[in-house]
Amino acid sequence: MEYRNIVLLKEGKVAVLTISRPKALNALNSETLKELDLAIDEIAKDDEIYAVILTGEGKAFVAGADITEMKDLDVMSGRKFGILGNKVFRKLETLEKPIIAAVNGFALGGGCELSMACDIRIASSKAKFGQPEVGLGITPGFGGTQRLTRLVGLGMAKELIYTAKIIGAEEALRIGLVNKVFEPENLLAEAKVLANTIAAQAPIAVSFCKAAINKGIQIDIDTALSYESELFGECFSTEDQKNGMIAFVQKTEKCFMNK
Ligand code: CAA
Repeated sequence: MEYRNIVLLKEGKVAVLTISRPKALNALNSETLKELDLAIDEIAKDDEIYAVILTGEGKAFVAGADITEMKDLDVMSGRKFGILGNKVFRKLETLEKPIIAAVNGFALGGGCELSMACDIRIASSKAKFGQPEVGLGITPGFGGTQRLTRLVGLGMAKELIYTAKIIGAEEALRIGLVNKVFEPENLLAEAKVLANTIAAQAPIAVSFCKAAINKGIQIDIDTALSYESELFGECFSTEDQKNGMIAFVQKTEKCFMNK
């Protein structure tokens, strides 16, 4: 499919999804959000894609929701815009494939929120993170108040959100917002190494792990463990389980088929 504001490329089992509105620092307007929604559907349907990298073109990952579009919104249209962003980000978060955010630059407001809807965040040493919304007279609207708290804890999330403070990649690493920091020129290659390492595993098992972790963190431990047992059992209906275990026992090459 042709998009105006994003680029979707496939490299083997890995899809690279790039937000590409560099003149506006990849700010998320409605059009870009809707394209992102379509691209997620396209990736979901493609059984040959086992892992996804999300990144931005130019000096920004995403510098936020589009302020030019938001400035004239009223209560109803503001709510609608927030719902659109939350719907798309939730679709990304629940996509049955792992997603790595390769944060190449500014990840502010909706950009930080987008990275947090991904499974794993790695960053360029030049990346900047923050939720500067209160400095614009609004709250974070694409999940920031919820996902930042879950990722870095209540106190740190409140400090970042209340102060609108922008932090660098090393501070993001220190507080657990990102997993690793790389030199800018190595970021995409490192993201591909990580994505391909994940893509070499049994894809259904990886997607069950994502579901178990994401659901389990929201519910009580007994219900979560029972969900884990359900998915664990489900694995034994897959060819990948049979192939993976036979290959181990017979000391042969593993070959996962996503079946
Ligand atoms: N929306 C719309 N346009 C944006 C934008 C945004 N979030 N961020 C940057 N741009 C545009 C600028 O207006 C500018 O356009 P023009 O060339 O037409 O003037 C272009 O991108 C380049 O930006 P700058 O000249 O400002 O670049 P800079 O390097 O000097 O500064 C920056 C970079 C610090 C990221 C600065 O652009 C900035 O502060 N951007 C806004 C960041 C922000 O507040 N994000 C949160 C938005 S609110 C939100 O996201 C709500 C939510 O939770 C859903």
